Amino acid sequence: MNSTNSTPSISTLLKNHSGLAYDPANGLLMNGVSLTELAKEHGTPTWVISADILRSRAHALQNAFAQKNLPINCHFAVKSQDHQACLTVLRQCGFGADVVSGGELTRALKAGIAASKIVFSGIGKTDAELTLAIESEIGQINAESVEELHRLNTLAQSMGKRPRVALRVNPDVDAQTHSKITTGRAEDKFGIAYDIVPALYRQVQTEMHGLNLVGLAVHLGSQMLTEAPFRKGYERLAALIHTLRANGLTVEEIDCGGGLGIAYRHEQAPTPDMLAHVITDVFGKLNVNLHIEPGRWLAGPSGVLLSRVIDIKDAARRFVIIDAGMNELVRPAMYDSWHGILPLHTPKEGDTTTTMVDVVGPICESSDIFAKQRELPPLKKGDLVALLDAGAYGSVMSSTYNSRPFAAQIMISNGQHGVIRKRQTLDELLAHEHVPQWLATS
Ligand code: LLP
Repeated sequence: MNSTNSTPSISTLLKNHSGLAYDPANGLLMNGVSLTELAKEHGTPTWVISADILRSRAHALQNAFAQKNLPINCHFAVKSQDHQACLTVLRQCGFGADVVSGGELTRALKAGIAASKIVFSGIGKTDAELTLAIESEIGQINAESVEELHRLNTLAQSMGKRPRVALRVNPDVDAQTHSKITTGRAEDKFGIAYDIVPALYRQVQTEMHGLNLVGLAVHLGSQMLTEAPFRKGYERLAALIHTLRANGLTVEEIDCGGGLGIAYRHEQAPTPDMLAHVITDVFGKLNVNLHIEPGRWLAGPSGVLLSRVIDIKDAARRFVIIDAGMNELVRPAMYDSWHGILPLHTPKEGDTTTTMVDVVGPICESSDIFAKQRELPPLKKGDLVALLDAGAYGSVMSSTYNSRPFAAQIMISNGQHGVIRKRQTLDELLAHEHVPQWLATS
């Protein structure tokens, strides 16, 4: 069965997730490491990220462009997975970083990513963040409004610097993805309205002497599954390049953004070849330096969230209550997203029994549901499970809601594994709270 609403079988999930495999004695392995052992040693919920998968996806992306003989500057979207160990892995693969805050910029620099390989997007960059970016002499600041350009120009001139800047264009193209992760329509808050770009570009390049305007940037949305919106958005940008050059202006850099989707369930996921093909088609002959900002495609399938079944509650439905909640992985609650769930114990040979269940977390919110009416192999109290494709927009979006400390994070690499963030303790969670003396008197 392959209808969009059915649950992919365990074998289908495994086929789509290279790096994961069952071992008769040690349960589900990730790159040869027993996830059961990790859960037993470090407790649950725990994030596990595989540097091996991250590296192989990074190389696959780079190879897709190499096949086309198209030089490409890859900037990892730090927002999708910001752990410095992951940034280090990607730096070693030759990646730069796409950052959206002073915090992310600081992380990327701390992970050793060269400032020249960092691009900074975002509609609400504060003066302090812009100052940090200018001081650090990063590769490119993607400006998202006329107002930001004026602030940036003033700051740069007062600092005696001339930062490299691109205009992030809002091309008014629908990315055909979930509306909460669509960024390139006119009504979205991102980018500079398409129609005003030619005049603004001229104004910046000829009048704003504090800025070195080098090109254009675009980001249409995330989890994009088809080629058409990429092509449409990029063609709009290419048309701008022609207009600007015809007006005697210089355009050297084109930042194509991120957005490449992955198959969480049955989706026909696009390949990096598709992206390389479209970018080559549209920009290949335009004599520009090209950049991309992928996040999810690299990090998503590289990570899982391990959790333990607290209890089974039989009511109107069978609820499998696990110890991970929406405070760890918020995506299902926020975007109704679907994540594969695999038991960590090896299924008995030939046993394909399934039960229809809701897999829920312990949080006091009705939206704290990881799977609604899903056919899963029978699970009992104490069993361990892995939530798949949790490497992107997982740990980075977690919170301590319901006073639940941040979960531990483990990295697997070349057969080794190590804790890259220890589980937060309750003492640490409470450490920065202070009850004023004037309140605590009685
Ligand atoms: N560049 C810019 C300017 C972005 O805003 C984003 C993502 C990316 C690159 C990376 O996009 P990716 O390759 O990962 O699709 N929390 C949501 C996703 C939000 C994406 C925000 N921007 C989710 O969990 O689905």
